[in-house]
Amino acid sequence: MKEETYGAWNIYDMTELARRRLPKGLFEFMHRGNDDEIAVRDNRLALDAIKLRPRVLRDVSKRNQEITLFGKKQKMPVIVAPTGSVGLAWYEGEIALARAAAAAGVPYTMASSSMTAIEKVAAAAPGGTLWFQFYMWPDRSLSHQLVARARDAGAEALIFTVDTPVAPGREYNLRNGFTIPFRFTRRNVLDVLGHPRWLFGVLVRYLLTTGAPRYMNFPPHMQTRVGALPMGRSVQSNASINWDDVRELRKLWPRKLIVKGIQHPQDAVMAADCGADAVVISNHGGRVLDSTTAPILILPEVLEAVNKRLTVIVDSGFRRGSDVVKALALGADAVMLGRGPLHGAAVAGEAGGLRALNIYREEIDRVMALIGTSSIAEITREHVIMPEMNGPVPA
Ligand SMILES: Cc1cc2nc3c(=O)[nH]c(=O)nc-3n(C[C@H](O)[C@H](O)[C@H](O)COP(=O)(O)O)c2cc1C
Repeated sequence: MKEETYGAWNIYDMTELARRRLPKGLFEFMHRGNDDEIAVRDNRLALDAIKLRPRVLRDVSKRNQEITLFGKKQKMPVIVAPTGSVGLAWYEGEIALARAAAAAGVPYTMASSSMTAIEKVAAAAPGGTLWFQFYMWPDRSLSHQLVARARDAGAEALIFTVDTPVAPGREYNLRNGFTIPFRFTRRNVLDVLGHPRWLFGVLVRYLLTTGAPRYMNFPPHMQTRVGALPMGRSVQSNASINWDDVRELRKLWPRKLIVKGIQHPQDAVMAADCGADAVVISNHGGRVLDSTTAPILILPEVLEAVNKRLTVIVDSGFRRGSDVVKALALGADAVMLGRGPLHGAAVAGEAGGLRALNIYREEIDRVMALIGTSSIAEITREHVIMPEMNGPVPA
């Protein structure tokens, strides 16, 4: 069957299509950063400043971008990152994205703050690789119960996100009247009415089936309907999280344990000491703490510090196949993609998510050939020039 492109030839096109389809408040929540959005900009500047160094005459006629991650083969060197709002972007968007990831042959990470329950997503995407992400709630025993649900649903990896002990500052959400959980105001009602495809395709569809969107992974008393609590009283934040939580999870969780939101080499070492299997070097796509260094620039230090004790994944700002290749060349085991697949799902559900992943696949394949490599293992440090060798990252 011919793949539908939706007119998206790259991820930036997909983002533009998502912008048109979604209410402004929702799109800004799904796309923007926090505070002055310096980190969002710097994530891109850093990736752009790393240069590729091709080798030639290597016979690249047979190329393969498979990797083995945690002992399991996958078709591309990427993972779909957890994004809490995909179920607001598309009706049961978590199922759509899980199926898209399964079709692309990569893991899908479901966020705990989803609109669809983990058991339902696991059942709807058989044959896929399901990972589960969560934040620790102030009542840890409730989080541990959720972890048990993820285990029983068959999640193969658990991601503990540690970079958000308090809610981030996102003024545009307040300006747009967009809060999580959602609250109807005159302004955002007009915004929603101006986007009938989203209104009927997503919101009305929920209202007619399962009712107003709610956090289906949360215990019943915390499943606040979209429209209940003002931002800042989020049930998610727990400012007391600490390394004992990782040690405790190690005892509770029998499969792969991943700590997400690492930005310091010593924290990666701590994660290894606490028994984690992997870290995700991430500044949350520039959405939590502004003015942080682009994770791609921290990657070499982390790899050196952990010395192969754990798997190292990186994310934040990856929009092109060439970005993924740069991270692999520096030694990352895989790359997580947040907004790319999310925006694809916002445009056309499963098919849109798959289109986004296929864009990355085609670009990775092309770049591999052009730098003279036929497999991911052949992509090495010799294929990139870091900014310090190439001039500083532009201010
Ligand atoms: C709309 C949105 C919601 C997100 N929700 C979560 C979440 O619930 N948990 C989490 O660990 N990360 C969350 N993230 C961060 C992503 O997992 C990932 O780290 C980030 O998007 C990577 O950067 P990129 O979007 O530039 O690819 C979210 C990101 C976006 C854009």
